[in-house]
Amino acid sequence: MNRFYITTPIYYVNAAPHIGHAYTTIAADALARYHRARLGSDAVFYLTGTDEHGGKIYEKALSEGKSPQVFCDEISQKFKDVWSSYGVSHNKFIRTTDVEHKNFVKKFMLALKDSGALYESEYEGLYCVGCENFITSKELIEGRCPYHKTEPELVLEKNWFFNLQKYLPEVISKIKSDELSILPAGAKSEVLGLVGQGVPDFSVSRSKEKIKWGIELPWDDSQLVYVWCDALTNYLSGALSDAQTWWPANMQLMAKDILKFHALYWPALLLATGYELPEKMFIHGFFTINGSKMSKSLGNVIDPMDLLERFGVDGARYLLLTQFPFGQDGDINKDRLVEKYNAELSNGLGNLFNRITVLTEKYMGGLIPSAGDPDGMREALSESWLKYTECMEVSYRLDGALFEVRHLIGLCDKYITESKLWEIAKTDVVRAGEMIYNVLELLMHISLMIEPFMPDTSRRIRVALCIDDSLNSQIYSIHEWGILKSGSSISKSPILFPKKAIANE
Ligand code: MSP
Repeated sequence: MNRFYITTPIYYVNAAPHIGHAYTTIAADALARYHRARLGSDAVFYLTGTDEHGGKIYEKALSEGKSPQVFCDEISQKFKDVWSSYGVSHNKFIRTTDVEHKNFVKKFMLALKDSGALYESEYEGLYCVGCENFITSKELIEGRCPYHKTEPELVLEKNWFFNLQKYLPEVISKIKSDELSILPAGAKSEVLGLVGQGVPDFSVSRSKEKIKWGIELPWDDSQLVYVWCDALTNYLSGALSDAQTWWPANMQLMAKDILKFHALYWPALLLATGYELPEKMFIHGFFTINGSKMSKSLGNVIDPMDLLERFGVDGARYLLLTQFPFGQDGDINKDRLVEKYNAELSNGLGNLFNRITVLTEKYMGGLIPSAGDPDGMREALSESWLKYTECMEVSYRLDGALFEVRHLIGLCDKYITESKLWEIAKTDVVRAGEMIYNVLELLMHISLMIEPFMPDTSRRIRVALCIDDSLNSQIYSIHEWGILKSGSSISKSPILFPKKAIANE
């Protein structure tokens, strides 16, 4: 692969961003940064944005006494601000109220109609406003939507429908053969299971009598484009840049709540309009906080900005992505965040960095010593790079990639402590120098491994070790031992991760 186009879902603007949105966006950011380091920044395109049409947002705007556009502008800006505070490196932030997007959707809808995939029909069914989707009574739990816990409304409308059944067999066969790869394996089974239960055709328009906020259907002014058709199309309209398109996406990230729309509706719409299908979708887990769904009334909501103020940008990014295995459901335990930060960042990476720079200053005059016997560190490192690369490119276990980093930190700590390096330094400065070199070299590689996750810390370590930033991508692709230049001086750096007091939590 020599290019990488990655997307997140575009988030509804009915409320400010929460850490569920931050989780997906930072994970996508880590993958985008990783690929930029390997392929060059021109080869990567990272798209995120906001989903702004539909009944849910219209109602929310009115309830706040605002026009829908003003309301959308405000919340969309909040998303942009939070992502910018978190150092998210998207190449484009798309809004479905952008003129270019609206024009694109109209063309897309016309292409759908021209393809013969649409038909007009009367429909009566249950509609969940939270999902912006029709829902069958089988899917309800105690009469309520399993995701939004609200009762759906009964809707009777004349709409334009998409002949999903015509395209479904081809979609299924591409999913089965992994031509459209749905990851992890459990998500693929879930999609195929859904198909087994029957997935009806869906309407691509809503009557203006019911929905007042959306894009008009080009050939029928009584209808607006169904919000999911409008939303999914962002991956195409947002991919247009400098008269070229990044489509097809190499990776589309999301949680399982929107799997059906992405794995079944979206590929079918693409087939009908003659577009290529995306290469991969990765469905990460849905998390709870202290064992319960995030909810204001339970008081367990974590504001992404609070997390950031407490732990710093890199601390917050790290904590979010290491709570539970990427791809599985999990729980975020608020009380354990400080403990984890102190153990893994302050006492882990931060302490190792401090320890080895102090030893270098004290015994080597602040200069990187000469290399000697790597003492097995070289092999350990190349094994870790292999596992790390598998995590970033094959299994997408982002937490696993960071586990390798912790493993290397532990190895260095043990190496220093068990050998009593500081004592060797007093009697055999050459040997101590070789050992210090080994740890510094490993630390340099660790700085590269953490770059996608903690870009600022990564850079600070390399600045301290006098590594030229332009070298990064070369180092990345060769994973070689012996990059550090003996004789160059290391510079002092402030504490990477100041310890946090548990009592304040
Ligand atoms: N607007 C649609 C998506 C359209 S994409 C063409 C939508 N928006 S949303 O605001 O509800 O975002 C859903 C997504 O937010 C999930 O798929 C996931 O990426 C992220 N998450 C929201 N809550 C989350 C958790 N509690 N846990 C993990 N991810 C979470 O659906």
